[in-house]
Amino acid sequence: MCGIVGFTGTERAAPVLLEGLKRLEYRGYDSAGLAVINDNGIETARASGRLENLCALTDNGEKISGVCGIGHTRWATHGAPTELNAHPHVSNDGRFAVVHNGIIENYAALREELTKKGYSFSSDTDTEVVAHLLEMYFNGDLKKTVMKTVARLEGSYALGIVCSEFPDTLVAVRCASPLIIGVGAGAEYFASDVTALICHTRSVIYLEDGEFALMKPDSLTVYDPAGREIQKKASHIDWSVEAAEKGGYEHFMLKEIMEQPNALRAAIEPRLKGDGVVFDGLDLSDEWLREMTGVVITACGSAYHAGCVGRDLIESLCRVPVRVEVASELRYRDPIIDAHTLVIIISQSGETADTIAALNECKRRGAKTVGIVNVVDSTIAKSADSVLYTWAGPEIAVATTKGYTTQVAVLTMLAVYMADKLGRIDENRCAELVRGIASLPERCQRAIDMNGRIERLARKYKDNASLFFIGRNLDYAVCLEASLKLKEISYIHSEAYAAGELKHGTIALIEEGRLVIALACRKELYEKTAGNIREVKARGARVLGVAVEGDRRMLTEADDVIFVPRADPLLMPIPETVPLQLFAYYVAKANGCDVDKPKNLAKSVTVE
Ligand code: F6R
Repeated sequence: MCGIVGFTGTERAAPVLLEGLKRLEYRGYDSAGLAVINDNGIETARASGRLENLCALTDNGEKISGVCGIGHTRWATHGAPTELNAHPHVSNDGRFAVVHNGIIENYAALREELTKKGYSFSSDTDTEVVAHLLEMYFNGDLKKTVMKTVARLEGSYALGIVCSEFPDTLVAVRCASPLIIGVGAGAEYFASDVTALICHTRSVIYLEDGEFALMKPDSLTVYDPAGREIQKKASHIDWSVEAAEKGGYEHFMLKEIMEQPNALRAAIEPRLKGDGVVFDGLDLSDEWLREMTGVVITACGSAYHAGCVGRDLIESLCRVPVRVEVASELRYRDPIIDAHTLVIIISQSGETADTIAALNECKRRGAKTVGIVNVVDSTIAKSADSVLYTWAGPEIAVATTKGYTTQVAVLTMLAVYMADKLGRIDENRCAELVRGIASLPERCQRAIDMNGRIERLARKYKDNASLFFIGRNLDYAVCLEASLKLKEISYIHSEAYAAGELKHGTIALIEEGRLVIALACRKELYEKTAGNIREVKARGARVLGVAVEGDRRMLTEADDVIFVPRADPLLMPIPETVPLQLFAYYVAKANGCDVDKPKNLAKSVTVE
């Protein structure tokens, strides 16, 4: 998704902006640009494709003088990923330059109005209307000009603005799209993500919706939507710079896979007390839980897959009906959700537009909402009635790994917690599960220790153009995530199928040599899945089995087997997922794919 940076200080701005944009590359983008104020007014440089193109164009920023500027990486929404559509966009009189994240929903009407008034457009973007509105409303007062402009905009946006009349001033505006100010010594910054700021400062201010700021090297003023000055407290970011960097691994994705034992420890350990689960700050009274009629889990992508695991666990342990809904669907349905529904919203970034919209819809219907979120103080973390952080640390690779497994861990603990509160689980079973949850980091480590064997299997199977993952119940939920992981980073077509469903049509696609990855880690369904393995083998498929360690029979059923560490049957999803993350990673790497930045994808999908 688009990235924004801004800098005003005493050193050359362009290299600082390029450095910030590099740190935002992981968000996904297809063009980049910057604008700096100098003796020539506003000087811009833009390039389609990778950031290296912009670095080459500007000689790593050295060609552009000036100490105040804005930069942007663009992920195309309105208009193709061309240089002309790259940000910043400049007003016709050259006075203003603008970078923008989000969508201006009423841009078509504004464009028509501005065109009639004689403004000419050089791009297909929604953003360019902002530059022309600024010019139209400019009366010498920057703050008033910004307020008049913003009043005309509908939609979600974070804006970074510079004006040549105010050569040391940056303007930052936030409306439903993240924007963070970094407070430095004799310099101020803004960015769409703290990752771009932490190499300069650890003191940050989160703008709320509607707030905007005027920033100079030695002063910062934040305003509420009515233009009244407000005092904001700076927060201290304790993420280390190294934590946001690769730490010696070839890719962020591999680093993040390897970090999972520690990430799980961080998510789990503070929440296990004796034989039970505790959640500080969870607003769910025993009385409310007893009157709860059902649970709805909503999320997108991998977070939705974590929700599928959560559904099986909560239904099994709590005996309450649970639905899992893709957030982009829920928001436009007329779902049965009321004040007795518990809605669990899952999001690593906390900024996914569809998930935020689904959360708002559920709140409108009176539901009790609990967010399971990684990024502290993100929009979902702040909007849900309660938030359970996953504490996975920064996740940079576009494909989520530790984000997903920590979501599953928190959902598992939530299922046990609610079952206990509802009196649906006996003490012994609760204690057994708590012990099992406590051992998940170690089981995850043992799964990671199979790294070498998984890499060999990945090299063996890397040339399949299309494959299937099959499994039943919780194994099927894991298949959904394993399949997404493989396809998003290796571009190999794969489908996850409930093993018993394959024969209702899709088995027609099984032919000689087709790879089927069969998950058979559920003892009670083992014979059924083994039967499905035989069905596909009879039609020529090659089968890579995923089975619990010690299952020698799978060696006779499948061509190759990945043995995963044994855990309580309800706790298997994490040990099963980790080797399949590694499998996806090594297949993608062996095929020369850009693992951390897969094509067409963005880390944080902040548009609908
Ligand atoms: C896949 C992936 C995406 C995200 C989805 C939701 O590897 O990362 O499918 O899971 O875009 O993102 P969050 O969790 O940030 O809401």
